[in-house]
Amino acid sequence: MTTPAKTTIIDTDLDRIAEAPGRIVVLIAKDGKLNAGAKRVNKLTRGALARMVDGGALDEMKSGDVKSLAWPAGLKAEAVDVLCIASRASAIEARKAGAALGKLLGKKGMIVLAASQASPVELMQGIALRAYEFTARKTGDQKTLGDVTMMVKDASDVEPLADAARAIVEGTFFTRDLVNEPANHLTTTEFANRIKDMEGLGLKVTILEEDKLEALGMGCLLSVGQGSASPTKVAVMEWMGGKDGDAPLALVGKGVVFDTGGISLKPASGMEDMTMDMGGAGVVAGVMRTLALRRAKANVVGLVGLVENMPSDRATRPGDVVTSMKGDTVEVINTDAEGRLVLADVMWYAQETYKPCAMIDLATLTGAIIVGLGHENAGVFSNDDDLCGAFLKAAEAEGEGAWRMPMGQAYDDELKSQIADMKNVGGRPAGSITAAQFLKRFVQEGIPWIHLDIAGVASVKSDTAYAPKGATGWGVMALNRLVADMAEGD
Ligand code: BES
Ligand code: MN
Ligand code: ZN
Repeated sequence: MTTPAKTTIIDTDLDRIAEAPGRIVVLIAKDGKLNAGAKRVNKLTRGALARMVDGGALDEMKSGDVKSLAWPAGLKAEAVDVLCIASRASAIEARKAGAALGKLLGKKGMIVLAASQASPVELMQGIALRAYEFTARKTGDQKTLGDVTMMVKDASDVEPLADAARAIVEGTFFTRDLVNEPANHLTTTEFANRIKDMEGLGLKVTILEEDKLEALGMGCLLSVGQGSASPTKVAVMEWMGGKDGDAPLALVGKGVVFDTGGISLKPASGMEDMTMDMGGAGVVAGVMRTLALRRAKANVVGLVGLVENMPSDRATRPGDVVTSMKGDTVEVINTDAEGRLVLADVMWYAQETYKPCAMIDLATLTGAIIVGLGHENAGVFSNDDDLCGAFLKAAEAEGEGAWRMPMGQAYDDELKSQIADMKNVGGRPAGSITAAQFLKRFVQEGIPWIHLDIAGVASVKSDTAYAPKGATGWGVMALNRLVADMAEGD
């Protein structure tokens, strides 16, 4: 996987500045006062920073903006980056400012003079999150990133917080790599193998193969994959770091490695984007990686349905009726509404097997959610105000957009079928909501549940606050925080 830049936290040592290669980052607040680190850089550069401040450079900068001085006289460094940020900036502000720096990280690395900063770890996390590039499918020299050295006031106080941040960055990169991979490389088998490899981190991983899925009666899930040469699989990841006997939180992900639409074939234009249709499963795998890396004191199970939606002589036809693991029958009106069929069976299996305290599913489920919310917010659907409120709070704290959508009986009524227990699509109106209503039919009585429609946020065509264009890793941070809030009491 793409390895995050190495990050170290050390006590401030201003004597290293003059000879350091790479970039030196100086933090200056709007008031223009130079802290000790800035003063040293100012002296070495014979007053460059003071001239910059006196010349009014800060007036046109807002928090998180960077101005760079290239090849500064008096230093070995290739640049001094002046970051405008208050010393008591909020965690999110610090992280976003860090991301602006992460964009600049090159192969010679970066020293950040962060002794005056209240949230140096947030700054570090922002740098590492943004310093990402997916190069696995490019030939030629791979750019390796230099180290990020955070100089802080008391490294031994700060370091214990840094490991959790590193775990989040690694989990997010794992998700982004999965989402960015093309479908001929990330087959269902390859996806399962990458998950299996996480056993090395202490996760318990089980891969359910087609014969087992058939025996379990997962007719909905299997109907999606039956037109593909790639075998359908369910991967189950268990992290039981919490109290014995505490019911786990279940995370369930849609892992359609490629969605052609099946017999209800999608148009050619833009179809290549459907390599990201395993985004929900990608986030589940990334969160589980983060939890394992930081040895979370929580019980969480992650289950993903891995499948490819292809047209072929064996593919499901529009009008076919399939039987879910729950026992309900579904008339498949549109084979392109396949994500809900995948989730229905995996959600049912998760509840039957683990009796979870709550269940959250993630899926790039509908184009309609992009029409409604664009690329800023994931759609949030829930049957439980408390769980939903806790999630929205966690997402906000992490700067990941999330917006609650309504549900209700009238939407559910759209799924009535003439010949089966339900259809897999409603009409054109409220497409994201009728999809959520379909899923709700597979949520057992009394289980608090959230459905996250991440079609608009999993992968985007322009840079975001934390990521370059492409896969974002949206949700790894919010879910990691929710787990911490719910089970770890911090
Ligand atoms: N994977 C798509 C949804 C999607 C669209 C994700 C755009 C990311 C970007 C999903 O399987 C799908 O095809 N949904 C259909 C549902 C319809 C047939 C009811 C859609 O949104 O058009
Ligand atoms: Mn589809
Ligand atoms: Zn899909």
